[in-house]
Amino acid sequence: MTTNTETANTETTAGAPEIRVRDLHKSFGDNEVLRGIDLEIRQGEVVCVIGPSGSGKSTLLRCVNLLEEPTQGQVFVGGTEITDPDVDIDAVRRRIGMVFQQFNLFPHLTVTENLTLPQRRVLKRDKAEAARVAAENLQRVGLAEKATAYPSSLSGGQQQRVAIARALAMGPEVMLFDEPTSALDPELVGDVLAVMRMLANDGMTMMVVTHEMTFAREVADRVVFMDGGVIVEEGAPAQVIGAPRHERTRHFLSRLLDPATAEVGETPERMDKAGR
Ligand SMILES: Nc1ncnc2c1ncn2[C@@H]1O[C@H](COP(=O)(O)OP(=O)(O)OP(=O)(O)O)[C@@H](O)[C@H]1O
Ligand SMILES: [Mg+2]
Repeated sequence: MTTNTETANTETTAGAPEIRVRDLHKSFGDNEVLRGIDLEIRQGEVVCVIGPSGSGKSTLLRCVNLLEEPTQGQVFVGGTEITDPDVDIDAVRRRIGMVFQQFNLFPHLTVTENLTLPQRRVLKRDKAEAARVAAENLQRVGLAEKATAYPSSLSGGQQQRVAIARALAMGPEVMLFDEPTSALDPELVGDVLAVMRMLANDGMTMMVVTHEMTFAREVADRVVFMDGGVIVEEGAPAQVIGAPRHERTRHFLSRLLDPATAEVGETPERMDKAGR
């Protein structure tokens, strides 16, 4: 249980709400994928979202930057209601960086060009400024020496760090990550998580869908467990992962820790999720 000291500390250090999700519903045809999500993420907070395949984690993230249009409910980013039909979607997306499982780099462009292109197109930065910001962010993710390389010459972990630098170069207020390490060979996961850890320490507001329980335990301020399109429980990582209150959370975590006991259809299907 939280002590009084810890509660006081949380209250004084937490920032203003950066993301607010209210009674969010999303259906694809008859399939109601999100069934009333309420969630608040404060400035500088890192929230990890966990849950079984198909529980709606990606759909939730995609609703937060309007890659999907919610069927019902509201999403606020930094006080702006982005679900307002009159909102400037492009302006909203500029404030939110997104990193996917697939890195989506342009293969015919160098690393630097991958970072400068969206800055020039979307933010209308001039060439020199875009190059300066690109260099700064490549440095941040530890890839300054790869500036002139092409994506195909990089490891998966390096490509993902380039994708993170590309998102950061746009100066987002919030970063959303959808299983950023799931497509990587195990030995490459650590470098990407280290970059995310650095971002968290720098005070970035982050929403991270992940199966990396060690990362969630160590870096998240809060863990949200989703199942069947609802938030089943949320709380401090030590509580949700270490001492889950709900049977569904316990079941999910035990399967994750010991996949050999999973039944067909229960493990995340890694192969058929392109683009989600
Ligand atoms: N564009 C879409 N059209 C139709 N159905 C969709 C679409 N996107 C997602 N779904 C469905 O919504 C449900 C939730 O999918 P979602 O990708 O959000 O789950 P997830 O929790 O991210 O799963 P995973 O761990 O496998 O990535 C699934 O049943 C999926 O088939
Ligand atoms: Mg997903």
